Amino acid sequence: MRLMMSLAIVAVTLVPAFGAEVSYSTPPRDRPGSSGDDINSLGNVMGLTQLRHIKLWFAGRQRNWPLARYELDQIADTLRHAGMFYQNIPVDDVRAAERQLDAIRVATEGKDPVGFAKGYAALTDACNACHKAAKVGFIAIQTPTTSPFSDQRF
Ligand code: HEC
Repeated sequence: MRLMMSLAIVAVTLVPAFGAEVSYSTPPRDRPGSSGDDINSLGNVMGLTQLRHIKLWFAGRQRNWPLARYELDQIADTLRHAGMFYQNIPVDDVRAAERQLDAIRVATEGKDPVGFAKGYAALTDACNACHKAAKVGFIAIQTPTTSPFSDQRF
């Protein structure tokens, strides 16, 4: 009985006004990945990519080549999937970022810190080039200055 009453209260609070229309979907947006109303939205996937972009930098700077390789593979997988699953992604910009990731991969294999730093700067430029093309140029990525990951050793 108590349960029934609680359910009734919940139902009443969920119905805002008699006859009012409730919309649970976000309106379409004027940029790629516009179905941004679910957990796998491009914005959320990019948030993860941002964390990996930071980890990649600190791994390379500490010459932790296996970790750098791991993080760049994660970024590469994410961008490849983004190119396949999201609407209107500028595919040329995905490819441009992939080319820079390949250059960083070569640097990690050769344990080459200079090549790594060069590749990293070019990757970051590729992130920003796509943001501009996708009308989100206000999301400006740079080389990180400090690591927020105090729970992981690089
Ligand atoms: C092929 C295009 C493309 C590439 C390459 C790309 N992005 Fe994005 N990124 C986007 C788009 C489009 C959005 C906006 C998504 C949305 O919310 O609708 C975005 C959003 C973001 C956001 C905002 C997420 C948030 O919740 O604040 C961050 C951070 C980000 N990208 C980081 C990166 C980083 C780092 C790279 C490079 C390693 C990168 N992006 C490469 C297209 C791209």
